[in-house]
Amino acid sequence: MCGIVGYIGKDNATSILLNGLKRLEYRGYDSAGMAIWQKDDSIALTRRVGKVANLASALPKDQDDAGLGISHTRWATHGGVTEPNTHPHSSCNGLIHLVHNGVIENYEQLKSTLSAQGVTFSNETDSEVLSNLIAFNLEQQDEPITEKSVHKAIRTSLANVEGTYGLAIICSKLPGTLFGARKGSPLILGVGKKEMMLASDASAIRARTREVVYLDDNQIVTLTNDNFSITTMEEDEVVPEISTISWKDEDAELGEFEHYMLKEIHEQPTALENAFRGRLDLTEGTCKFGGLNLSRQDLRQIDRILIVACGTAWHSGLVGEYLIEKYARIPVEVEYASEFRYRNAPMDKNTLVIVISQSGETIDTLEAQREAQRKGYHVIGIINNVGSTIARENDGGIYQHSGPEIGVASTKAFTSQVLILSMLSCYLGRTRDLSYAEGCKMVKAIQELPALIKQSLSLADSIKAIAKDFAKYQDFLFLGRLEMFPIALEGALKLKEISYIHAEGYPSAEMKHGPIALISEECPSIVIVPDDETLKKNLSSVQEVRARKGKVIIITDSHDIPSSLADEIIIVPKAHNCIQPILMTIPTQLLSYYIAVELGKDVDKPRNLAKSVTVE
Ligand code: F6R
Repeated sequence: MCGIVGYIGKDNATSILLNGLKRLEYRGYDSAGMAIWQKDDSIALTRRVGKVANLASALPKDQDDAGLGISHTRWATHGGVTEPNTHPHSSCNGLIHLVHNGVIENYEQLKSTLSAQGVTFSNETDSEVLSNLIAFNLEQQDEPITEKSVHKAIRTSLANVEGTYGLAIICSKLPGTLFGARKGSPLILGVGKKEMMLASDASAIRARTREVVYLDDNQIVTLTNDNFSITTMEEDEVVPEISTISWKDEDAELGEFEHYMLKEIHEQPTALENAFRGRLDLTEGTCKFGGLNLSRQDLRQIDRILIVACGTAWHSGLVGEYLIEKYARIPVEVEYASEFRYRNAPMDKNTLVIVISQSGETIDTLEAQREAQRKGYHVIGIINNVGSTIARENDGGIYQHSGPEIGVASTKAFTSQVLILSMLSCYLGRTRDLSYAEGCKMVKAIQELPALIKQSLSLADSIKAIAKDFAKYQDFLFLGRLEMFPIALEGALKLKEISYIHAEGYPSAEMKHGPIALISEECPSIVIVPDDETLKKNLSSVQEVRARKGKVIIITDSHDIPSSLADEIIIVPKAHNCIQPILMTIPTQLLSYYIAVELGKDVDKPRNLAKSVTVE
């Protein structure tokens, strides 16, 4: 949510920042801006409403770029989507320019204190308050401006700030220095050859360097062309740990695909293979995980699992609830991270908390994790983004290894989370009552998954044709039972997110307890009908929809459903129940994608959304 890129080094900053912003655009695309240090020591500020492309075409061709700059792509929180509200923000005395990701909660109070001191403001954002606060504290020092005095002004200011921030800051009287600070919003330092970068995530840096330092909360970093130093807010020096980014360049390229979402849907065979590689043990009929930090004894003692996540990741948690309860017989609850943090849910000392997050930066999930840890619980993570804050702070976990997910609507990360939860259900089950034979069946099914997903993906053309016919409807119901209920929820979310069509997910049988009132010729239902003991009941729900003239698309692994029962039947391969939800998901993803394309929507950058929700 909001992307920051800063550069200092031997090359022109403008094009490097622009490329970085393009990579970060999925974090927000309401407006974008850049401040570039010029060779005559002035600072050129360019800001535009809309996507990064608008900023790119507005940048002066003759920028006398001195190799230092900061930039931002915005997802608006405080203040409308206007040019004055676009970052970078400058202090009224022109001393400080900064870009900010996060929310300053006490900005109104800070603003009135500063106003009383004669400081003036030119926009509605909380971020402008920060630039003025730092500049004000710098002036108050009443001494020549040096790296030390700016550092002190930043420290003093941030000590009075409530909220979250990832910041890149330049001072107009201090050439050759870039500052960064972090609390609650991610900030990464890229260490290059005679150049340094700051960014909200590694994708903006990767083209220049693979050496990165993940900053921790309450750290301030000072960067010059060829050096950097990190301190805490108390001015203690931090010994940096340099990590190497492992993604390949093509992981983040569109390649032959029209959209990242479509690319990521098609990457699922590989992404899921990466999730199980090295984690299957056919000899023991189980799965294994290196990083859980739980002994066999600990595992035996777990008597309750609490899964905490947001959005799509929360849906994967719901599938996990069904699978873990079924195969490991451990009671599971799934909570929205934002709710968990603020309520006082009773937990047992043997409760294991699992947080799930693709980005590893979602603030609600991060804060829920911190709350659980504060209360003394062991928290493990299922995280895609290696080195992300949630991954670094939890007590152990399982990386998804799905590769970067750039499409704002999550696809491959969701199915990979479901797979990992399924493997976890096998692993936990095998420490309890799950038989060797059943464990082996699960392991073998998982090994077959990439090939089965490929078969599901081969339905793309027929689903595209269905999407053409159904794109005209304004309301959809998604129905499913048991493990397929969360798949219905996820299907409805995908459609809403990228097509702006109203869609709701329900347990099939719940439909008749209310939602049935919505059914008409104008409200189709997508019903997930696995070929199992629920088949007949699900088909009854289908009949109830049809009796009210509702159109029906059935997604099933059965070849025996009469074609007269539905307007469309999409048949996916049949598999073990532990992976069937994944196969049922693929058609819902493709359907949403092709409906959105049919409607001409911006699939990878749906309105109002952003990937990585780093504000509460
Ligand atoms: C929907 C979607 C969101 C995220 C949610 C949590 O397609 O992507 O609902 O799942 O914002 O994000 P992470 O998994 O990064 O914590």
